[in-house]
Amino acid sequence: MPITNPKRYTVTAALIYANGPIHIGHLAGCYVPADIYVRYLRASGKEVAFISGTDEHGVPITIRAKKEGLTPQQVVDKYYTQIDDSFKALGISFDIYSRTSKPVHHETSREIFRDLYDKGVFVEETTEQYFDETAQQFLADRYIVGTCPVCANPNAYGDQCERCGSTLSPMELKDPRSMLSGAKPVMKATKNWYLPLDTMQPDIEKYISKHPEWKTNVAGQCQSWLKDGLKPRAMTRDLDWGISVPVEDTEGKVLYVWFEAPIGYISATKDWLIQKSGSDEGWKKWWQPAKEEADGETKLVHFIGKDNIVFHCIIFPAVLMAEGNYILPDNVPANEFMNLEGDKISTSRNWAVWLHEYLQELPEKQDVLRYVLTANAPETKDSEFTWKDFQTRNNSELVGIYGNFINRAVVLTHKFCEGKVPAAGELSELDQSALQELTAFPQRIGDAIENYRFREALTLIMDLARTGNKYLAETQPWHVIKTDPARVNTILNIALQISATLSIVSEPVLPFTAAKIQEQLGLSGQTWQNAGKADLLPAGQSISEGKLLFEKIEDHVIEKQIQKLQDSKKINELEGKTVTPVKPEIQYDDFAKMDIRIATIVAAENVPKSKKLLKLLVDIGLEQRTVLSGISEHFKAEEIIGKKVLYLANLAPRKMMGMESHGMILMAEDRDGSLSFVQPGKEIWDGGTVN
Ligand code: 2FM
Ligand code: ZN
Repeated sequence: MPITNPKRYTVTAALIYANGPIHIGHLAGCYVPADIYVRYLRASGKEVAFISGTDEHGVPITIRAKKEGLTPQQVVDKYYTQIDDSFKALGISFDIYSRTSKPVHHETSREIFRDLYDKGVFVEETTEQYFDETAQQFLADRYIVGTCPVCANPNAYGDQCERCGSTLSPMELKDPRSMLSGAKPVMKATKNWYLPLDTMQPDIEKYISKHPEWKTNVAGQCQSWLKDGLKPRAMTRDLDWGISVPVEDTEGKVLYVWFEAPIGYISATKDWLIQKSGSDEGWKKWWQPAKEEADGETKLVHFIGKDNIVFHCIIFPAVLMAEGNYILPDNVPANEFMNLEGDKISTSRNWAVWLHEYLQELPEKQDVLRYVLTANAPETKDSEFTWKDFQTRNNSELVGIYGNFINRAVVLTHKFCEGKVPAAGELSELDQSALQELTAFPQRIGDAIENYRFREALTLIMDLARTGNKYLAETQPWHVIKTDPARVNTILNIALQISATLSIVSEPVLPFTAAKIQEQLGLSGQTWQNAGKADLLPAGQSISEGKLLFEKIEDHVIEKQIQKLQDSKKINELEGKTVTPVKPEIQYDDFAKMDIRIATIVAAENVPKSKKLLKLLVDIGLEQRTVLSGISEHFKAEEIIGKKVLYLANLAPRKMMGMESHGMILMAEDRDGSLSFVQPGKEIWDGGTVN
């Protein structure tokens, strides 16, 4: 059963590999929901540690380093800074954004490994693995390429074929070669330490069965792993980048990245305390509350994307169980994936909206992105981001509903009440029912957030804004002012109280906007518990007019973003094109049969009713010939007159469109399909031969 009223919350968001920038898929899957959850808890007065950082070890880092021509250290330094900066700019309110390269993390991981080792938890096993004799290194699956047994892609990886999507093991690849040296790898024996997940399965099953409340996508993945039967998994790897193994004679081995990365949540908590007070004292209450006597329960929640489920629901809990002193994750509200404009988000294909670019190109629109990603969050199934939807949600919902309500309440207060909160008089039925509705919203929104239903929470927030708009539409203060100014005071008092609550309950999703509203209204220090009350703003308090909260996004802004994606697609298609293989061998005599010479195009015209053909007259020194050439989609007739070209003079004549074509003009084709004449490097006389 879930912990319902804990003393405190340890909330983590995945430690992303520091091998590339953050994109909207990461945000929608993990970081925005985590931030909403934490902001809500803080507003409710709960004690929270919001922990995250970068995962700086493992093959994804070394592969990136190789690609960028940098050292692994340079790669993680570069991306740590970029990722940290862009999270901050989006208002993701981590208490600590740490790194797994920090000494405190190396120490903590080694301690836990050594503890399990000393307790005899690991099973030592020697297996045969691929080894590169040239590079003198064992090869991680990603470092082996070969031919895919399914689709014959010659460049499939040892763990996956990116062409057909098959999951592979290195042994399945045909003609394997090392990515490090190109050499054919050999099999070599190596010793590693395995976590015996097979024998731990009953305990893991028991733990998971205590959490029937987990999301169906999460529970489903766990059940499928358990059904297949858990297998022992190596917790050490033969690699030269990572945390050294705290056992004698283990040179060239490091801790498995998925052993130590989740431990990063623990070491990041220590890092947070060290940065705050110079020592890690107090870290246990976040991870081992039972050790701190009578300190109540701590609820551990991991926010992650769906590709991380097994590691957080099975492998990490298994490590924590084996250690014995730690609390286990209470929930792992993993999201599915967000797609982009009809296609999977992909770093290698540059099919993504990158956070750092978004922040530069659409400045001051952090909340718009947070809003759209929450409204479309892939909570139960994969979802879709499109720029058109982004524009519509901004223009119709944020500008049209939310911004419109706050703006009207503030502007009308300035127009009719000298910019001060008016005092409410006697309440009509309409007023009472609006206030009643208002009172119920904070609890309903809070429940949705506590149960990880962020889309629903956002719908409720917008419903509150709609309630405000409806109230103004029904009470019509702009008409009533002519006959009953005292009534207008009551109406605007209520509209402003609704605005105040709206700012509090939307803060988790729209923190920048909420801060602006609260500044306008002079509201501060309010908690979630106060939200919904009818006296948040005292009569007489000054309201400032401020700027519009949201602005309409014009078509050209959106078109620019769509064009950017289309450019990416084009570049990818070009990069995917391979050079045409060389044709079968011929002899010199075969070549010598061809009479290729220099010629000049002296006339050119379109061929009626033909989309492709141009009718050319070429001067080949001896005479002028008519050639029909399929190039009219590439060149205009008038542009090519006078061009020197290579001309195959002895090709048998052919009839096309009722005309006879003599010989052929030679063209070169670029990889995007565009054509170019092949021309001599200096002025050569017509009829000059090509040998
Ligand atoms: O998928 C990733 O980017 C992993 N580096 C996430 C690790 S989360 C945790 F275990 F640290
Ligand atoms: Zn394949």
